[in-house]
Amino acid sequence: MAGRFFYLVALVQSTAATTLDSLTTKNINPNSVSVSGFSSGGYMAAQLGIAHSELFKSGFGVFAGGPYDCGRDQDYTTCLFNNTPSIEQPLANMLSWSGSEIDCLCNLKQRKVYIQAGTADDVVGLGIARLLESQLSHFTDPSNAQFVTSVGAAHVFPTDLDGQGNSACNQSALPYIANCGYDGAGEVLKWLYGNGLKPRSERPLSGSILPFRQTGIFGAPGLAETAFVYVPEKCQQGGKTACKLHVALHGCGMHHEHIGDKFLVNTGYNLWADTNEIVVLYPQTTVDNGTYPTWSGNLSNLNACFDWIGQYGESDWKTGDHMKAIVNMVRTIIGHKSEPGPFISQGALPFVEEL
Ligand SMILES: *[C@@H]1O[C@H](CO)[C@@H](O)[C@H](O)[C@H]1NC(C)=O
Ligand SMILES: *[C@@H]1O[C@H](CO)[C@@H](O)[C@H](O)[C@H]1NC(C)=O
Ligand SMILES: *[C@@H]1O[C@H](CO)[C@@H](O)[C@H](O)[C@H]1NC(C)=O
Repeated sequence: MAGRFFYLVALVQSTAATTLDSLTTKNINPNSVSVSGFSSGGYMAAQLGIAHSELFKSGFGVFAGGPYDCGRDQDYTTCLFNNTPSIEQPLANMLSWSGSEIDCLCNLKQRKVYIQAGTADDVVGLGIARLLESQLSHFTDPSNAQFVTSVGAAHVFPTDLDGQGNSACNQSALPYIANCGYDGAGEVLKWLYGNGLKPRSERPLSGSILPFRQTGIFGAPGLAETAFVYVPEKCQQGGKTACKLHVALHGCGMHHEHIGDKFLVNTGYNLWADTNEIVVLYPQTTVDNGTYPTWSGNLSNLNACFDWIGQYGESDWKTGDHMKAIVNMVRTIIGHKSEPGPFISQGALPFVEEL
């Protein structure tokens, strides 16, 4: 139906990026923080959900990702394709780090965890996602964990929407977002926040996708200067409506500088955010052609991946550079709970991008 296209409209603020601190006039429930991500963003979501289980109290979702700490004790490519990485040492590491390098694993009993994998995924194979499930099963409550298999899906973020420029569901190709007849964003949010969520919006978004400066304490090598946050109208004023916060992480090559608004729009997160008062944070990577020692030797980051290979510090510890930057964003957004005030900077005129 025509509405399908009508409501996939992005309102992206066209003026220069503002600072994240100036956005902190919302009333966010600090117990509502969750994260999900695709591919390297999925690996990062698991890192955040495990290492920062105190902060991500509503849990985490992983689309086409693999085990925590997978890339440390074996070449990271063992954690890709249809390989079979070992999770023995990663499991031992988790146990030895619990309560120090990472938050107490005991928190995971109360956390919701969602994992999705496609049977035709040739980049992060279904078997690798199964190993994440198996690894987490040592710590999570079975009733809190869900594993979704998408039959015939390749390495794509699954949706049930025909976003412009999407790839085919059975093709692992840019922008790695496809109509697979499955609403991935909706399903992960419903799993994390419960079935009480209202249906997604069928109308144009109430708020805008705001760019902010991903610099200073929000920056790191491999992260872009600009990232984005979707703030539903009801969450803009601070005060009455208690909003939730979800972090959505793109995969390699899916950064805004490369695919534009596609991850911000075509995934459909904002449609659910709008009807359920969820602020969605979209950190962004950038190509980094510098060479860094990683757990798998000296590498650069030409595909603009979130770090799960030990490239920018110990990537799966709380001290990892990308983890620190994202956590600083989250803390800043939830930090000032009830200060009222406008948060859209003066003179900001949103433009409408038709898909
Ligand atoms: C993908 O699916 C389309 C039909 O939707 C089909 O025509 C095509 O052959 C499939 N490609 C692969 C690689 O399976
Ligand atoms: C690395 O990237 C910078 C900035 O984009 C560019 O100026 C430089 O030429 C690149 N270096 C190499 C070796 O590609
Ligand atoms: C990585 O780079 C460093 C410094 O450039 C060099 O000393 C080291 O030998 C390199 N390691 C590998 C495995 O190539």
